[in-house]
Amino acid sequence: MTTSPIELAVVVGSVRPGRLGPTVAEWFLRIVAERPEFVANTIDLIDLNLPADLSPSPGADTLAAGISSADAVVLVTPEYNHGYPGSLKNALDIVKYEWRGKPVGFVSYGGLYGGARAVEQLRQVAAELHMVSVRDSVGFPRARKTFGPDPVVVDGPAADSAARMLDQLHWWATAATTQRALRSYPGQ
Ligand SMILES: Cc1cc2nc3c(=O)[nH]c(=O)nc-3n(C[C@H](O)[C@H](O)[C@H](O)COP(=O)(O)O)c2cc1C
Repeated sequence: MTTSPIELAVVVGSVRPGRLGPTVAEWFLRIVAERPEFVANTIDLIDLNLPADLSPSPGADTLAAGISSADAVVLVTPEYNHGYPGSLKNALDIVKYEWRGKPVGFVSYGGLYGGARAVEQLRQVAAELHMVSVRDSVGFPRARKTFGPDPVVVDGPAADSAARMLDQLHWWATAATTQRALRSYPGQ
């Protein structure tokens, strides 16, 4: 049984000017801060300047190191044209082995459906990356209205979903840590 905190990599997936991503991530990080069994490490893709051609770069090295040290991952994603942003796909593609055997959860946002379509697509990609996507996720519909200038959002259902997602991430991360101590993940 793991007693040290689970390291959670929180990846901010959008990079466009005026993006809402950091505000949504901030809401989630406040929830995580109330859970002593987690320690969060925010990875904002805007800081990494990842090359579209997937060539080696300092940003890719930083991403690889951040995912490598993480026990679990949360992707903060908007919905763009019923999918997720290209910046996030670029990040998922540029790192390979570091994702493997890690549980992943989603905090999404968008219009009417709160980014649900982006999350469903990400679940397919996560499976290919040997990640385990947990059942519960957080989704904010009408995100521009929900998140005003004050980043604290009082939203019971979203907080409840976040709590369930974190419980599931913790369970899988603990299981994976226990397994990794016994044998390396198959397919490394
Ligand atoms: C290119 C683009 C496409 C979008 N397509 C959708 C969409 O298909 N469904 C949806 O719910 N919202 C859509 N939106 C609205 C975004 O979810 C919303 O603007 C969100 O704030 C974008 O995230 P960001 O501010 O972090 O970039 C789209 C926004 C952009 C910029």
